Amino acid sequence: MKLNTHRWWRDAVIYQVYVRSFLDSTGDGIGDLAGVRAGLPYLKKLGVDGIWLSPFYPSPQHDHGYDVADYCDVDPLFGDLAEFDLLMTDARRLGVKVLLDIVPNHCSSEHPWFQEALVSAPGSAARARFHFADGRGPDGAEPPNNWHAMFGGPAWSRVTEQDGTPGQWYLHMFTPEQPDLNWRNPEVGTHFDHVLRFWLDRGVDGFRIDVAAGLYKHPDLPDSPDPEADARTRDSVNPLAWNQPEVHDVWRHWRSVCEEYTGRDGRERLLVGEVSVRTAREHAQYVRHDELHQAFFFDLLSAPWNADAFRKVISEAMQDIAGTGSTVTWVLNNHDQVRTVTRYGELGTEGSGLGAARARAAALLMLALPGAAYIYQGEELGLPEVVDLPDDVLTDPIFRRTGSRARIRDGCRVPLPWSGHASPFGFTSGVESAKPWLPQPAYFAEYATDRALADTRSFWHLYRDGLQLRAGLPQLGEGVLRWLDTQPGVLGFVRGDGLVCAVNFGTAPTPAPVSGTPLLSSGPCAPGVLPGSTAAWWISDCTNP
Ligand code: NOJ
Repeated sequence: MKLNTHRWWRDAVIYQVYVRSFLDSTGDGIGDLAGVRAGLPYLKKLGVDGIWLSPFYPSPQHDHGYDVADYCDVDPLFGDLAEFDLLMTDARRLGVKVLLDIVPNHCSSEHPWFQEALVSAPGSAARARFHFADGRGPDGAEPPNNWHAMFGGPAWSRVTEQDGTPGQWYLHMFTPEQPDLNWRNPEVGTHFDHVLRFWLDRGVDGFRIDVAAGLYKHPDLPDSPDPEADARTRDSVNPLAWNQPEVHDVWRHWRSVCEEYTGRDGRERLLVGEVSVRTAREHAQYVRHDELHQAFFFDLLSAPWNADAFRKVISEAMQDIAGTGSTVTWVLNNHDQVRTVTRYGELGTEGSGLGAARARAAALLMLALPGAAYIYQGEELGLPEVVDLPDDVLTDPIFRRTGSRARIRDGCRVPLPWSGHASPFGFTSGVESAKPWLPQPAYFAEYATDRALADTRSFWHLYRDGLQLRAGLPQLGEGVLRWLDTQPGVLGFVRGDGLVCAVNFGTAPTPAPVSGTPLLSSGPCAPGVLPGSTAAWWISDCTNP
């Protein structure tokens, strides 16, 4: 076993719980905190080190909780603070760490601060907590600059002043219901200090930080040099709206707050940032020793299923990020992305079986890489994306804001199947007639957790076995990786003294880099052969055959 003196987060495996889709204890069709609590033994059995809970704070749910109206409470939709405390108690007893999702870039338009700003005059202290500005053009009818919102449309909306006249504009980098906070106003930082301490005092182990390369904007809010590029992508490309140098001061400060708590009881708290920046080198700036502990490395998630592409992003991460003294935080799925099983599939060729085989192989690859890993709920079941949700059930604001063009995020958020043969598949405990907030397709029956647990060939067993081995093998977890010379289309690397991982990205079998039976493989794997779309782990003293 590994020594427990190492810093737990450096190679932790965290399970992302998208609360509204995990398990519903009340029968209203929406998952809740009591559901998460009921699911903890399942997650313990899977073998994860901790969970990250998507936002459950009071919110009008325009962006499913990423529009926070009160940072220090629980939305009645999900429970209450007492229920949260019970969840913490159970998690502590089971040894499962709990991370909360904190949203500092913007709040909800229903947050009392924004409501106050709306009824306050231009130039008031209430408006100074946000980015309010006069419009351009005749009568100020044009937005203050040419920035685009990430979810479509302009990044500015105009308010009506108290006297009924069209007034100032406010900035929102996502939807109009998510006004951006002005981090140049010290009141904002002070407020978030209070929020951090509120939850740390309730025992949480850390925070996933939403839009961690956001917060600060260029102080003059000038026009973007390439508004067309900003409009074309959901990536943070506008250099004046993202990745401003001042944001690093915030992370240094938040780290010091975490260290203060660690100093009191020895328990390390973790900050993991959702950092969307252009290069691994920029990304590395966020995980310097006194800033965030981790930042999701999304390049692995966005790499196409191709050995060269995977090798390039892994090598860059190892060189640029691990060089900071931090570890890389790998991720293949989350609540904003098409699930791997579907993303890696090539429908029309070998059907979805190919996507599933590749997703299994990618999972073993990820769990063998040095650093930490995040698993998105349902990934351990091999859930595919639900691609045929009818328009009238879609709730993602991106769909609405792009004129119904982008059907991006609902398909990976469909509530989990737990048991049974028909929806709600045990998602709503004890209420068979309950209607999940997004409809579950009939084929979810095949993926239900009870079936997955009973079938040793399931995704669930692959993840569980991988996690168990990872926890017990000193070669895995943090450390270095050494590439092996392999055939084109195959990636192979060695961890520590002889744990070999190889992935065949092609569809034809290839000689395995190690003879003998693998310790674990993502599909059937005879000694000496690595079948197509398969990954395997071996223990070997032969490090470069
Ligand atoms: C990133 C979150 O993952 C996403 O779900 C959310 O819509 C945006 N940030 C805005 O908060």
